[in-house]
Amino acid sequence: MKLPSLNAKPTHPTGYRGRFFTLCLTLACWAVAGASWAGDAAAGKSLYPVCTACHGAAGEGNQGMNAPKLAGQENWYLIAQMKLFQNNARGTASGDMQGMQMAAMAKGPQLATDEALANLAAYIATFPDEPSPTTVNGDVAKGQTLYAVCAACHGDKAQGIEAMGGPRLAGQNDWYLVSQIKKYKAGQRGYHASDVRGQQMRPMVATLADDQAINDVVAYINSLQ
Ligand code: HEC
Ligand code: HEC
Repeated sequence: MKLPSLNAKPTHPTGYRGRFFTLCLTLACWAVAGASWAGDAAAGKSLYPVCTACHGAAGEGNQGMNAPKLAGQENWYLIAQMKLFQNNARGTASGDMQGMQMAAMAKGPQLATDEALANLAAYIATFPDEPSPTTVNGDVAKGQTLYAVCAACHGDKAQGIEAMGGPRLAGQNDWYLVSQIKKYKAGQRGYHASDVRGQQMRPMVATLADDQAINDVVAYINSLQ
């Protein structure tokens, strides 16, 4: 009567009869658990207008404001970043003007609960995921070689791997990826003791020797969307 892969879910119910019935119950339970974890998009909509000025009405990103695309990014990562900003683990490094701007936004009182962040992320998940324009010129073939080490945490299609904490990179604004890699290099990201994931990412940028290598790997990532 065991369905091992399904039983791995913590929300799995106990005390039922029949394999088919079990499967139905499990799926129903998933749907409920998924909905509460994913948040309420309708409730999140009222939290988003303040983000529009920098990230765009549909989270498409705005280079003029240095604000990245949010559409298409996974909600576990969006929520984790909001919390880093709220907890002074991102956006507090000297010289990180963009991070400071964003930290001020994340600390809005209406975003202070896990529920609010989940709702906001659920609303962002309703945005269409449009391809990002190419703004960075690099050698895609050289970038592919450089990307090999990144795939372990970000996925071979740069689709992100939640279990590794590695966000989706494909489809993100290429100029933003460049700026973030430079922030890890400069110690403006992944610097805080509580930012365990950022600290895992930070040493990885050592494999990118110079600006050209950064452009190359980002050009390759941009080709994957
Ligand atoms: C004043 C402009 C501004 C506003 C308003 C703003 N942001 Fe941002 N946001 C930024 C900038 C700039 C960055 C990039 C920070 C950096 O370079 O590290 C950013 C980064 C982020 C990130 C990190 C993305 C990533 O891939 O790492 C998230 C998530 C985010 N913003 C969500 C939001 C949400 C949700 C709102 C509304 C509640 C919001 N922002 C409002 C400017 C803004
Ligand atoms: C050991 C796992 C690991 C490897 C290998 C790795 N990363 Fe990451 N990367 C992460 C994690 C975890 C994060 C999220 C950190 C955080 O939460 O701030 C991240 C974040 C990023 C970000 C920021 C994305 C955003 O939206 O703000 C970029 C860009 C990035 N990685 C690029 C790379 C590139 C390029 C490589 C290969 C040279 C690479 N990473 C290799 C784990 C890794």
